[in-house]
Amino acid sequence: MIKKGIILSGGLGTRMSPLTKAVNKQLLPIYDKPLIYYPLSILMLSNIKDILIIVNKDQVNQYKKILPNGKNLGIKIQYAEQDKPGGIPEAFIIGEKFINNNNVALILGDNFFYGQSLTNNLILNTKLRNGAKILLHKVPKPELFGVAKINKFKKILFIKEKPKKFVSDYAITGLYYFDKNVVKYSKQIKPSNRGELEIVDLLNIYKKNNNLTADFIGRGGAWLDTGTMDDYYKTTSFVSAIENRQGLKIACLEEIAFNKNWINKKQIKNAIKFYGNCDYSNYLKKFNK
Ligand code: TTP
Repeated sequence: MIKKGIILSGGLGTRMSPLTKAVNKQLLPIYDKPLIYYPLSILMLSNIKDILIIVNKDQVNQYKKILPNGKNLGIKIQYAEQDKPGGIPEAFIIGEKFINNNNVALILGDNFFYGQSLTNNLILNTKLRNGAKILLHKVPKPELFGVAKINKFKKILFIKEKPKKFVSDYAITGLYYFDKNVVKYSKQIKPSNRGELEIVDLLNIYKKNNNLTADFIGRGGAWLDTGTMDDYYKTTSFVSAIENRQGLKIACLEEIAFNKNWINKKQIKNAIKFYGNCDYSNYLKKFNK
């Protein structure tokens, strides 16, 4: 059972410079809210309430302005700093104390997930006891991603980072589930040529132990990573189209917390006051009737 989650929310965002020179990518807007709201909503929808957000050195205060300690959402948020982008598995070394020998989920701060049966799958995935689980999604340009080759029984045969030759179009998304061995294994990996600990190396340790499984987002679901300007604006258009058509918000954190009974009307009222006169506040008013 996974009750703890990490959001890896640092990075230099070099592909989106100059936007990311003064502000961390995850604090920039995707349509009507900061990018970080989306991965946080995914952890909350997974019923994960104990959360560590890893941010760049000296950026904790910026994040705390919008996401303080989680009390306003009925959850617990803690922060840790990463000196420089040392790779995804570094999150588990930085988060060793937080993980404290428990199983843990990790989501990258710039990953966006949306889909019909997503919430049910998210909750199922937190039932993981042993090993590691990755979430796969078919993409048109697999050469840009880490990919997994699977057989007809959906068993993972191997995984490979950015394959030049086609091996599979199943990209490994930025949401992972690990058992408590993840800290020990992350410490065993050596940095790659680009000087980072590589997630593929970590997953390969689990694979070697026959302990790596996959779940699939499926045709009805969307996964977008917001690494380039183009992806970024595609995600914004996606959110705007869905929200305006349905009149429902994606990743409204207070709505999720309220529906789960983690917060009450009083906290909704406080949130409306905090956000001020804006569309997001107007949306929250319907939970304060
Ligand atoms: P990347 O896409 O590797 O990096 P980036 O988003 O900073 O962008 P760029 O490549 O343009 O410089 O990272 C994916 C996500 O993971 C992103 O949200 C940042 C986060 N991340 C960290 O916080 N620390 C790390 O060490 C790495 C590798 C990523």
